[in-house]
Amino acid sequence: MSLPKVFITRPLPRQVVEPLATRCDWKMHPEDAPIDPQRLLEACREIEGLMVAGARVSQEVLEQAPRLRVISNVGVGYDNIDVAACTRRRILVTNTPDVLTEATADLAFALLISVARRIVESDRYVREGRWHYWQWAYLWGTDLFGKTLGVYGLGRIGKAMARRARGFSMRVLYHDSVRATPALEQELGAQFVDRETLLREADFLTLHVPLTPETHHLITARELALLKPTAFLINAARGKVVDEAALVEALESRRIAGAGLDVFEQEPQVHPALLALPNAVLTPHVGSATSETRLAMAMLAAENLLAALEGRRPPNPVNPEVFA
Ligand code: DGY
Repeated sequence: MSLPKVFITRPLPRQVVEPLATRCDWKMHPEDAPIDPQRLLEACREIEGLMVAGARVSQEVLEQAPRLRVISNVGVGYDNIDVAACTRRRILVTNTPDVLTEATADLAFALLISVARRIVESDRYVREGRWHYWQWAYLWGTDLFGKTLGVYGLGRIGKAMARRARGFSMRVLYHDSVRATPALEQELGAQFVDRETLLREADFLTLHVPLTPETHHLITARELALLKPTAFLINAARGKVVDEAALVEALESRRIAGAGLDVFEQEPQVHPALLALPNAVLTPHVGSATSETRLAMAMLAAENLLAALEGRRPPNPVNPEVFA
């Protein structure tokens, strides 16, 4: 019996792909760069399994893949995949939650501390030879302790942020479409509030929602206007959740104090005004980028892929309705 054909869109580690060799006939895009859409279309013609890291899987790609049974996304967010079209075709989509929660929350919290304590500006100050003597009044930042963290979206990463905030003696408010149980609220020390209260009371507003039609531009000029002028916005979720032009305007006019951003509306393009703003700390979508976490993501994606190809229920189906 021939092995199922699989295509992998990024060069994943040997310890992940080598064990696949006895269970599928795999090919891998050799460059750690976006695959050319035409190349992806060609690669999909014969395959039953697709392992995707970052590549966009559109209806057009699916149309070229008559044998495709599973798309294993190496990542928790799957807004790069047309899941509705997959479900119509009974193609299973899987993702890699849990394994990246702590690393992503670490990065979001690192952005929060960096922008509050002006770490990047301070680093530049030293490197540029501007540090001539100790001064009383230079590079003053903002305290974290006693401040309010507003968590928008209390999923896995939102909860991990709440736990971190407690360690920094912060008050935690959250808003989500579904309220957590009293036991969880107590464990996290997090208080549920309505959306407007969250925006008005947060000293640090951190976004942890998936990108969906409902969360696209969740934060616009209207929401930014409700924030305190001393507030900071942290986004390590998806860039399109924020109206970036409105954020630039709020930062430039000091309508809010600052922002820590790991994600952008048109990645890898960054609004040029953001690049010039000292009160914005910018990282290139590296929330899950630690060696341990990226390996765990790739391993889990391989497990999801093989389970689906071998007729078992994978650990992380995104559209389990295809089993019905
Ligand atoms: C994720 O897992 O969704 C990360 O943002 C990588 O895309």
